[in-house]
Amino acid sequence: MDALSIAIRSILFILPSYFANSIPVVLGGGAPLDGKRKFSDGQRIFGDGKTVRGFFSGIATGTLVGALEGIMLSGTAWDIYGSGASAYVAAGFLLGAGTMAGDLVGSFVKRRQKVARGKPSWIMDQLMFLLFAFLFSYPLAAHLLTLESVLFLTILTYFVHIGANVLANRWGLKKVPW
Ligand code: CTP
Ligand code: MG
Repeated sequence: MDALSIAIRSILFILPSYFANSIPVVLGGGAPLDGKRKFSDGQRIFGDGKTVRGFFSGIATGTLVGALEGIMLSGTAWDIYGSGASAYVAAGFLLGAGTMAGDLVGSFVKRRQKVARGKPSWIMDQLMFLLFAFLFSYPLAAHLLTLESVLFLTILTYFVHIGANVLANRWGLKKVPW
C-alpha cells in the first residue's frame, strides 16, 4: 500500500478518538469523576478536570463518529473494516472508551507527579489517550495497527493536539493554549 493510502486509512481509523478527546471541553463540566476524593498521597485521584459528563460525552461521541463513518465508508474503496457498518460502531465505541480511559490515566499520573489540574504534561496530555485508544480497539483493528500506522498517528497526534489547543484557546473554549 502506498504512503498516502496508509495515512488516509490511519486518519479514518483514529477520527472517533480525536472527536472523543475534544468534545469534553465543550460538553464536560459538573461533578468530577473522582467525587473530589483524594489518593493516598493526599492529592486528588483525577482532579476537577475529569468530569462524569465529559467522560460519557466522549464515549458517546466516539461511538457516533464511528456510526457516521460506517454509513459513509462501509462498502466503499475506503472501507477500513470490511465487515459492514456495525464494525465501525463497535470500533467507535472502543476508541471512545479507550480515549477517555487513557485521558483518566494521564490525569491520574499527573496528580501523582503533583502536576496541578490544567497544567501541561506533554506525554500524559497528548499521547496517553492515543495509547489506550490503540489498546482498546486492538481486538477489532489489529489489521490497521501496523508499525507505520502507529508511528504516523503518534507524530500526527502530537501536532494535531498542539494545533487544536491553540484554536480552542483562541475561540474561548479553553483558558490556556495547551
Ligand atoms: N473535561 C471533562 N471531563 C473529562 C475530560 C475533560 O469535563 N473526562 C473537560 C474539563 O472541563 C477540562 C477540559 O475538558 O478542564 C480540558 O480537558 P483536559 O485538558 O484533559 O483537562 P485539564 O483541565 O487540563 O486537567 P488535567 O490536568 O487533569 O489534564
Ligand atoms: Mg489539559
